[in-house]
Amino acid sequence: MKRIGIMTSGGDAPGMNAAVRAVARKAITEGLEVYGINYGFAGLVAGDIFKMEAATVSDMISRGGTMLFSARYPEFAQEETQLKGIAQLNKFGIDALVVIGGDGSYHGALRLTEHGYNAIGLPGTIDNDIPYTDFTIGFDTAVNTALDAIDKLSDTAASHERTFVVEVMGRGAGDIALWAGVAGGAADVIIPEHDFDVEAVAAKLKSSRERGQKHAIIVLAEGVMHADEFAAKLNQYGDFQTRATVLGHVQRGGSPTAKDRVLASKMGAYAVELLMQGKGGLAIGIQNNQLVNHAMTDLFNSKHETELSLYKLAEDLSY
Ligand code: F6P
Repeated sequence: MKRIGIMTSGGDAPGMNAAVRAVARKAITEGLEVYGINYGFAGLVAGDIFKMEAATVSDMISRGGTMLFSARYPEFAQEETQLKGIAQLNKFGIDALVVIGGDGSYHGALRLTEHGYNAIGLPGTIDNDIPYTDFTIGFDTAVNTALDAIDKLSDTAASHERTFVVEVMGRGAGDIALWAGVAGGAADVIIPEHDFDVEAVAAKLKSSRERGQKHAIIVLAEGVMHADEFAAKLNQYGDFQTRATVLGHVQRGGSPTAKDRVLASKMGAYAVELLMQGKGGLAIGIQNNQLVNHAMTDLFNSKHETELSLYKLAEDLSY
C-alpha cells in the first residue's frame, strides 16, 4: 500500500479535522502518500481529490467543522455510482481509505472494501449513536456547547422563576440530552429511549415550586418532539412560565475539546496502522478506554446502547 485517501462524510462534527490531521500525519510518518477527498462520497465520484502534505493539516487540530467539507450522498448506494468512485480511486492510485463519519458513511466504506479497496471507518458525529464505541468524535464538544447554553439559560430561568425546555440534537439518540442534562442539573431529561409522562413532569415541577425551587431546566432530545410542542403540553398542567429554546446547529460547531482532539488523534493513527496491516471493512471505536475495531457488518446489525443509568441519576439528583 502506497497511497491512502481520507474523507469526511455525513454531518460535520468537531474533531473531524483533528482526525484528518492524525490520519495524514501518521501516514506520512509511515512513508505513505495521502490524498484528501473533498465532499465525502460525492467528491470521490466527482474526482475532487488533492494531494496532502504534512503542512496541509497545520493548525487544523483546533478547528471545528471539516477542512475536507462534507455531504450526505445517498446516491452512493447504487452500484453504478460506486464504480464511478472506484474509477477515481484508480485514477489517483489510491489503494485504501479512511472515512470519518456516521453509520451511513460506513455503508459506502464497506462497498469500497468489497470492491477491493480497504476502507476503515472512524465514528465522527455529535450524536454518539454508533454501536461498538463508548464515544464518537464530536460528542464531547457538542455536550459542552449544550451545557454552556444550559448554564446561561439557568441564570435567566432563576432570575424570572421560569421553566426552560431546552431542545438538544442527537437525531434518534438521547446521549447529548442525558450528558448535558446531568451535567447541567436538569429537573428532567426527556429522551427517545425512555418513556415519559408530561403530567408527571408537571407534578414534579409543582412540588419543586412548593419546596422553593421556582425555576427549572428540562432537557429534551430532538428525537422526541419539538420543544414548543413539549412546552405547550406542559402548560396544560399549570403555569410554569415556560420558555422553549432549540439549540440547533450551534452544537455542531466550535473548537473541539481536548477529549475530542485526543480521541480523534488516537483513532486516526490507529486507522492507518490497520490499513497498513492490510485490513479493511472495519469500524474503529473506543470501549472501556481501549481502541477497538469491529467488522462494519456487525455494526449494521446492532444498536448503540445509550447509558440509561444516567437517566435515573438525573431523576435522583433533581430537586
Ligand atoms: O447527525 C448530526 C445531526 O446534527 C443530528 O443531531 C441532527 O438530527 C442532524 O444532524 C441535522 O441534520 P442537518 O444538518 O442535515 O439538518
